[in-house]
Amino acid sequence: MTIRNILIHPDPRLKKVVAPVVDVTDDVRRLADDMLETMYNAPGIGLAAPQVAVMTRMLVMDCAKEEAATPVPMVLINPSVIWSSEDRSVYDEGCLSIPDQYAEVERPASVKVSWTGLDGKVVQETFDGLWSTCVQHEIDHLDGKLFIDYLKPLRRQMITRKMQKLKREMARD
Ligand code: NI
Repeated sequence: MTIRNILIHPDPRLKKVVAPVVDVTDDVRRLADDMLETMYNAPGIGLAAPQVAVMTRMLVMDCAKEEAATPVPMVLINPSVIWSSEDRSVYDEGCLSIPDQYAEVERPASVKVSWTGLDGKVVQETFDGLWSTCVQHEIDHLDGKLFIDYLKPLRRQMITRKMQKLKREMARD
């Protein structure tokens, strides 16, 4: 397994609608392993393929966050939301591509998602709580959308400027 480099906003690759995975090949399985390793190492609870510069519809997540909790690594290929609750919930969201920036985002409290697993089978599951927020945040990445796109323009610009500064500093080191 390899820890891959995570793209930092702003990056044009984080703004693209990416293409479906056609076949669950060895490359796809290797990418899934690498993405989980990269996510746990960060550490984070979700990661989408475009964040590691692979432009395909795939994400990993594990929201079993409490210490001593058994890890629940999930790999979702070609995921889509097929039902959203009318109830909404607000979470203080962050993103591995926007380090150290957090903001409240309101989304449907529960969603039913359909996806293809690593075994090639189609799965459907309803997510609540943090899992629901996380899966929606990660699916957004596959459509070139970031959590800061839900914020007011001024706040979004402020965060983007901080990230530009961070990237300049990283480039210098
Ligand atoms: Ni993110």
